[in-house]
Amino acid sequence: MKPAIVFGTRPEIIKLAPVIRAFENRGITPLLVHTGQHYDYEMSRVFLEDLELDGIDYHLEVGSGTQAEQTGTAMIKIEGVLIGERPDVVLVQGDTNTVLAGALASVKLKIPVAHIEAGLRSFDRTMPEEINRILTDHVSEVLFAPTAEAKKNLKREGITDGVYVVGNTIVDAVLQNSEVAERKSNILERLDLDPKGYLLITAHRAENTDRKENLERLVEILESLPMKTVYPMHPRTRRRLEEFGLWERVMRIEGVLVTRPLGYLDFLKLEKNAFAILTDSGGIQEEAIILNVPCLTLRYNTERPETVKVGGNVLVGLEKERVLKYLSKLLNEPEFYEKMANAPNPFGDGKSGERIVHILLELYKMKELKVRSSRFI
Ligand code: UD1
Ligand code: UDP
Repeated sequence: MKPAIVFGTRPEIIKLAPVIRAFENRGITPLLVHTGQHYDYEMSRVFLEDLELDGIDYHLEVGSGTQAEQTGTAMIKIEGVLIGERPDVVLVQGDTNTVLAGALASVKLKIPVAHIEAGLRSFDRTMPEEINRILTDHVSEVLFAPTAEAKKNLKREGITDGVYVVGNTIVDAVLQNSEVAERKSNILERLDLDPKGYLLITAHRAENTDRKENLERLVEILESLPMKTVYPMHPRTRRRLEEFGLWERVMRIEGVLVTRPLGYLDFLKLEKNAFAILTDSGGIQEEAIILNVPCLTLRYNTERPETVKVGGNVLVGLEKERVLKYLSKLLNEPEFYEKMANAPNPFGDGKSGERIVHILLELYKMKELKVRSSRFI
């Protein structure tokens, strides 16, 4: 079997690394296509290094742009690669513009798409990611849902065939890298942090950063945090803070340490040792629960509701009062802290990569890895 894996951003590299490893364990070297949606060293290359992935076959250098520019350019360039290479299946992971571009380019060449992390829904169609998820799921032949909840979402949209619940490859990534991070990263010393003595915050979503009033609310939250805080900042957020004239204000906040985006080993170590995590990231909501760290999500909805249901995550939006209320509970009520920290991980056992590769190989053997004219036959 000749699989191609199309990816382009930080979380895709992290969550696909275990799948690439699982293919390699079976003696298969997948074709690796990097769209270049993320291109700064610390948004891309550092992850290839940290996760010891080399051998990218195609760098497409798509870069930044409007939604259509980025998706369209990626589609055109991916199509060129797929026409030349004719893989048996194209794997995409998650909900970025790269994912939609890879799925559309592939299915129209009648190359089947396997979507990893299928079935997630925030039920908020104003998010570009939600559009990408829905469309990708509907053109995919094989859908790797991380949880039963994700499978249910697909069923609600009429997708029942080709769906496999396999867990989330983020668990594989965390388990495969935690010990390495512990050993290799000296980030706590570099930033002068005590274990469980600081908060970790990230925010980069369009809905939180692209409007000045929302970004100002985020800054107000930063100004009110009751503990030393580390903020490895996504370049999108930094650019918006500068554009809206808020950057200097953030720099003046005592106790908030803004860093450039960090490599995976450093970031994992920071997550593991944080008192609590505040984030609008999808992957970080998952990692927090896997690492037993309480998570406050700076959003009003989440496509990871499992984390909220089991009690490890609270949606606080950009509501300063809610953030402070929950931080105060975490600081002053040990039972509440323990309950959040010990919420069970709903994302599986860390063998998702192996399962995905096994299923694809079985389908290939049975000659069922193909674009069918109808899903309902
Ligand atoms: C994208 C995904 C988002 C995901 C995130 C992971 C879409 C629609 N969004 O958002 O779901 O959570 O990746 O981090 O696909 N930039 C740089 N250097 C880089 C990359 C980006 O400076 O290497 C800046 C550019 O100013 C760019 C902006 O960040 O315009 C946004 O980048 P883009 O890839 O469009 O979206 P993300 O916010 O990264
Ligand atoms: N991450 C990292 N360094 C950072 C911030 C995040 O390595 O400075 C990792 C994090 O551990 C997680 C992934 O990047 O695995 C999440 O990516 P991001 O928040 O950009 O995207 P999302 O998951 O929201 O799509």
